[in-house]
Amino acid sequence: MATAGGGSASDPASWSLRFLSFCVLLAGLCRGNSVERKIYISLNKTAPCVRLLNATHQIGCQSSVSGDTGILHVVEKEEDLQWVLTDGPNPPYVVLLEGALFTRSLMEKLKGTAGRIAGLAVSLAKPRPTPGSSPSMKCPNDGFGIYSNSYGPEFAHCREIPWNNLGDSLAYEDFSFPIFLLEDENETRVIKQCYRDHNLSPNGSAPAFPLCAMQLFSHMHAVVSTVTCMRRSSIQSTFSINPEIVCDPLSDYNVWSMLKPINMSAALEPDDRVVVAATRLDSRSFFWNVAPGAESAAASFVTQLAAAEALQKAPDALTLPRNVMFVFFQGETFDYIGSSRMVYDMEKGKFPVQLENIDSFVELGQVALRNSLELWMHTDPMSQKNESVHNQVEALLSTLEKSGAGVPAVVLRRPAQSQPLPPSSLQRFLRARNISGVVLADHATIFHNRYYQSIYDTAENIHVSYPEWQSPEEDLNFVTDTAKALADVATVLGRALYRLAGGTNFSDTIQADPQTVTRLLYGFLVRANNSWFQSFLRQDLRSYLGDGPLQHYIAVSSPTNTTYVVQYALANLTGQVVDLPREQCQDPSKVPSENKDLYEYAWVQGPLSANETSRLPRCVRSTARLARALSPAFELRQWGSTEYSTWTESRWKDIRARIFLVASRELEFVTLTVGFGVLAFSLIVTYCINAKADVLFLAPREPGAVSY
Ligand SMILES: *[C@@H]1O[C@H](CO)[C@@H](O)[C@H](O)[C@H]1NC(C)=O
Ligand SMILES: *[C@@H]1O[C@H](CO)[C@@H](O)[C@H](O)[C@H]1NC(C)=O
Ligand SMILES: *[C@@H]1O[C@H](CO)[C@@H](O)[C@H](O)[C@H]1NC(C)=O
Ligand SMILES: *[C@@H]1O[C@H](CO)[C@@H](O)[C@H](O)[C@H]1NC(C)=O
Ligand SMILES: *[C@@H]1O[C@H](CO)[C@@H](O)[C@H](O)[C@H]1NC(C)=O
Ligand SMILES: *[C@@H]1O[C@H](CO)[C@@H](O)[C@H](O)[C@H]1NC(C)=O
Ligand SMILES: *[C@@H]1O[C@H](CO)[C@@H](O)[C@H](O)[C@H]1NC(C)=O
Ligand SMILES: *[C@@H]1O[C@H](CO)[C@@H](O)[C@H](O)[C@H]1NC(C)=O
Ligand SMILES: *[C@@H]1O[C@H](CO)[C@@H](O)[C@H](O)[C@H]1NC(C)=O
Ligand SMILES: *[C@@H]1O[C@H](CO)[C@@H](O)[C@H](O)[C@H]1NC(C)=O
Ligand SMILES: *[C@@H]1O[C@H](CO)[C@@H](O)[C@H](O)[C@H]1NC(C)=O
Ligand SMILES: *[C@@H]1O[C@H](CO)[C@@H](O)[C@H](O)[C@H]1NC(C)=O
Repeated sequence: MATAGGGSASDPASWSLRFLSFCVLLAGLCRGNSVERKIYISLNKTAPCVRLLNATHQIGCQSSVSGDTGILHVVEKEEDLQWVLTDGPNPPYVVLLEGALFTRSLMEKLKGTAGRIAGLAVSLAKPRPTPGSSPSMKCPNDGFGIYSNSYGPEFAHCREIPWNNLGDSLAYEDFSFPIFLLEDENETRVIKQCYRDHNLSPNGSAPAFPLCAMQLFSHMHAVVSTVTCMRRSSIQSTFSINPEIVCDPLSDYNVWSMLKPINMSAALEPDDRVVVAATRLDSRSFFWNVAPGAESAAASFVTQLAAAEALQKAPDALTLPRNVMFVFFQGETFDYIGSSRMVYDMEKGKFPVQLENIDSFVELGQVALRNSLELWMHTDPMSQKNESVHNQVEALLSTLEKSGAGVPAVVLRRPAQSQPLPPSSLQRFLRARNISGVVLADHATIFHNRYYQSIYDTAENIHVSYPEWQSPEEDLNFVTDTAKALADVATVLGRALYRLAGGTNFSDTIQADPQTVTRLLYGFLVRANNSWFQSFLRQDLRSYLGDGPLQHYIAVSSPTNTTYVVQYALANLTGQVVDLPREQCQDPSKVPSENKDLYEYAWVQGPLSANETSRLPRCVRSTARLARALSPAFELRQWGSTEYSTWTESRWKDIRARIFLVASRELEFVTLTVGFGVLAFSLIVTYCINAKADVLFLAPREPGAVSY
């Protein structure tokens, strides 16, 4: 009642108000219609390039905080770049690059054109680039091995042999725009279709809007170097309850086991002798968590697993005069994280085996691409300047040659004496002590692997393939030629380790099982989620097996899939099933016959029962253990270390990619201007109405009306 008098329909001010709101409504409607509806299609199978940092540099890629957007342009041959770099009228562009063109020379062209490139999406090349492609360096881990300008300068910086001759260091460059890998062909097809439908113009004229655009999000929090980001994180965690960490050290676990169990709570006696068999677990590529590493890691650790199984089966394995230690180093790709940590722990007495216990050291380098049966034995010329070390190495080589004599498919060869060691974990041990060691590899000089640390170092690279008509379960047990060849190498390794450990009687009966090798290769390179891998893992780890191959990037949240799977594969191959119920398996301290100092116990899923509805879980006892692989630089807080690896990975909030249609700049500008105009107009009108409110909204106030 009180306000009714002011709102009469015949009032001219009220009319103008209605007209105004109608106008605003109309303007809003017009704006809503004029902009093309944006339909986002998110890309679900992509891998980003992320930022990594070492003591002095940052490498990798990133987008701006809100993601980088550009008009899509497909580059299938080098000439197509012309449009992106100079001709195209609508920069910036996001380039969809054919995988075969993803080379250093082309990337340098893109890098030099600030402003016109918003990002890059790279499709997988099929078939893979035939000349080879390696984004790693020509001299991997240079500066962190044994040779330097002051020690063996003639061998330093791979002067004599550029081991990874095809390496173009692309994965060690810093890019200011985001780069994504498109892992799925079907998604690539969807993107190309969007490009064809909207962005192609006849005869090189400017295409008409709306155009297909791509947006890439991969903003990285850390900048400059590990020194900078770790210092920042450390200050934050000192002064802030809720510290903002911007980078994390690359770290994981080494996997190791002993032929004869040792007491974990006590160091070995100084006169206990141990033969070390070593290899590496990890690899990398240009893209985050895409690291198939078939030749650079998987074939070697699979071979070593098979050798461990064969040696454990020797009847006198537990009575040999010397012990054998199998170790699988993590993070070797990033300046020897795993081996440098183990040497550090051995020196500090934090590991049951000490450096002086090491009798000899046999490392498996890349071994799957042997030409004409040859397996090369690489040794270090520097330490052999000492007569006694030289004699030990000679004895080691002749033991290997004797062990190889019984295996016609493997011919052990020595390279020229003056040649340095290839990049290897042994180099980290030699930095600490002149032990006698050898690195076995398929190459005499430069790598045979043409895809070192590339996304194409897959099963195909080591010629693992299966007949098409087989089921997954048949593939798992199908013995490939690669598996046979690697089993031969494993047999030689097993026999050599047996002899080095002082065994004599059964050397010729040690035989690696090609079936084991082929199942391991299938699991690591083709399909991790297979019946065997499921059967030897703990139940809580079963989600670690995906339907594809495992990726061997060390990462920061650990243990990673590979680490666990290798540990439990080793336990399956070298351990025993013990008859303990679940509770006792998980805590065997009360069982008189069992000992946690000597063994590791695991309650594993077991195989499917005969009726295939449930599993038959069991307790497996082995010596397969994990040991921390975090660079000592972080333990010592020496973030600028040149002695130890300093690699860290930046943190990020959001990584994703999507495509959508965009309207032209002009149209967006017009829309924006109209929007602003409407806003300004309505502000003014509101102000006027407000100022004249007493006139417009007449409210006859009766003095008594307020009192309810
Ligand atoms: C850090 O990485 C960059 C790029 O690979 C390299 O040039 C530099 O030498 C590295 N720094 C150290 C201390 O290793
Ligand atoms: C791609 O699409 C085809 C046909 O739709 C399908 O058969 C194929 O499995 C798809 N490939 C992948 C990798 O999803
Ligand atoms: C990705 O997944 C979303 C939701 O499942 C789907 O709408 C979209 O089409 C997918 N993207 C592609 C390129 O297939
Ligand atoms: C493209 O150019 C060719 C020759 O220059 C001409 O014959 C053709 O009609 C043009 N096509 C369009 C769509 O303009
Ligand atoms: C292992 O060493 C610890 C400490 O020296 C000792 O107490 C324990 O009895 C040893 N265990 C075995 C099985 O020898
Ligand atoms: C050679 O190495 C042995 C240990 O392996 C050491 O005892 C000896 O002193 C070294 N000789 C020289 C000349 O350095
Ligand atoms: C290994 O031997 C070489 C040559 O005899 C010597 O220069 C070097 O210092 C030794 N290294 C260690 C770690 O003792
Ligand atoms: C191995 O051979 C040695 C002599 O060469 C013999 O004394 C020993 O009993 C043999 N061991 C086995 C387990 O046969
Ligand atoms: C692995 O395969 C089994 C069937 O063989 C399936 O039930 C399970 O979901 C798969 N696991 C993953 C992680 O894909
Ligand atoms: C690794 O394990 C994680 C966590 O269970 C899982 O999500 C991922 O799919 C696994 N990766 C591969 C390559 O199998
Ligand atoms: C290893 O796995 C196989 C197949 O699942 C199984 O038969 C065997 O008992 C396992 N061995 C151990 C020691 O767990
Ligand atoms: C399947 O076999 C397991 C063990 O052999 C048994 O416990 C289970 O009851 C069986 N399930 C069915 C459905 O027969």
